[in-house]
Amino acid sequence: MRAVRKVHHAAWLLVVAVLAGSVHAIAPEAEFSAGGMVASRSKVASEVGADILARGGNAVDAAVAVGFALAVTYPSAGNLGGGGFMVIRMADGTVAANDHREKAPLAATRDMYLDADGNVVPELSTHSHLAVGVPGSVAGLLDVLEKYGTMSRREVIAPAERLARQGFELDLDTARSFERRMPEFARYEASAAIFSNNGSPFARGDVFRQKDLGQALSRIKRSGRDGFYKGRTADLIVAEMERGGGLITHEDLAGYESVWRQPVLGSYRGHDIISMPPPSSGGVLVVQMLNMLEAYDVAAMGYGSARLVHHMVEAERRAYADRAEHLGDPDFYDVPVERLINKAYARQRFADFNPLAASSSADIAPGKAVPPESPDTTHASVIDKDGNAVSYTTTLNLSYGSKIVAAGTGVLLNNEMDDFSAKPDTPNFYGLLGREANAIAPGKRMLSSMTPTIVAKDGKALLVTGSPGGSTIITTTLQVIVNVVDHGMDLSDAVSSARFHHQWQPDRVIVEQRGFSPDTRQRLEALGHTNIVEMPFGRGIGDANSVMAVEGGFAGMADPRNAGGAAGPR
Ligand code: GLY
Repeated sequence: MRAVRKVHHAAWLLVVAVLAGSVHAIAPEAEFSAGGMVASRSKVASEVGADILARGGNAVDAAVAVGFALAVTYPSAGNLGGGGFMVIRMADGTVAANDHREKAPLAATRDMYLDADGNVVPELSTHSHLAVGVPGSVAGLLDVLEKYGTMSRREVIAPAERLARQGFELDLDTARSFERRMPEFARYEASAAIFSNNGSPFARGDVFRQKDLGQALSRIKRSGRDGFYKGRTADLIVAEMERGGGLITHEDLAGYESVWRQPVLGSYRGHDIISMPPPSSGGVLVVQMLNMLEAYDVAAMGYGSARLVHHMVEAERRAYADRAEHLGDPDFYDVPVERLINKAYARQRFADFNPLAASSSADIAPGKAVPPESPDTTHASVIDKDGNAVSYTTTLNLSYGSKIVAAGTGVLLNNEMDDFSAKPDTPNFYGLLGREANAIAPGKRMLSSMTPTIVAKDGKALLVTGSPGGSTIITTTLQVIVNVVDHGMDLSDAVSSARFHHQWQPDRVIVEQRGFSPDTRQRLEALGHTNIVEMPFGRGIGDANSVMAVEGGFAGMADPRNAGGAAGPR
């Protein structure tokens, strides 16, 4: 597989410039600090988190501050108008998971995206006011801060508010991202006004100010959740819904609550796995796949060998098939979590594995082709000097969600409703299938793949990881864990090395360009993995901004798949 060459962080700025052109050529060395570490997709947001740690905040304070900052500095996925999951492991061993996933509005109906003939209406669940779920991020971030943080709401929101009001210099990556979406933003006056420079594209170095968003943040800073779910922001969101035919009402907003859930707990070769439970499918699937792999000598097979890829693809195929049938919002559907993560079940599920031949995914209507649009979600990892660890993934679903800003708020609204199963066995944007467990119902949370995960060893947090990338989130998280635990990679290699993905349906292996050597590919094809699709590095398979405890401190790694991220303090 692709060789990784490292450079020292002193050349960091140069690296970023080079990465913009050829992101997969080199991998920066991980950052090191004895005093805690933050890694996120936004350099400015990582600096906010590192500053909170430097001022004595704990990992939760830093993660919450990063969450609010990402809504300003990385608006394609960071958000106030979306949702997310946060997995926490405090240094005393306490574990917790906060679910602030969006919910279907109370007026949502099971068949709301179908036409009179029962067919899915294209783009209704992704590009319309009906695509928007009731946002959860603000409630979740505030609840997490209250329960496990040490700083005040004012202290952790102030940096984001300042960045929104005073602005920050756009990097090339973000300026280009705004420019690419201009035709879509043009459909909504408020969105076009924010993400263009008076109708022209923003350029690198332009100062990007978001006055309305600054005021929305100020209302949250002053009044807590009521500053978002009630009052002016709520009025403006409801007005936007009424203007565009959306469903969210004052009752939906005022009634939104984040939920504390018991994390999914697994073990893998002497390591504890702490991950997100339903309504995420991520934690269940990661533990299920690790259970299937544990019986095999993964290290001896070797990173990148056809034998190991075959084992992993077959584990992925079985786990994703279970996802379609069994995973959904546990408040609405009896998800058999304990059975799915049981080691005996994994042995039984993998009993028909043939080391000499690929199996075939069930004959169900095939999923869509590789999405042309880079799906967006974002992940941040934080660990503080005491070993408190936070794994945080947040999303608007697709890049910039519905592209709709609720006029007057600066808040981009999600299009998370597409993560429901609009119709049984009909693929969503990510080609994922679903059934009854993930059918739409009022007040229900749509199934997610977000997989914020913490790996602990000998009673201490070792690795904090997770990823964006829709359905590929789960297999990215799996591979980072296997790279560390089985292949003994350092954080830089574990994060940077090429990755592949299989999700049962469509029956194909996605691999990053040059991720399989020619002979690995030939062997895989000989085993029956004939549908192998190469994707450009950094497109389709997401980044994994991660931190890891190392000798004398902590390593932090902004995945070289993205150009704008950073780990710090630097
Ligand atoms: N919207 C992507 C996910 O939650 O899986």
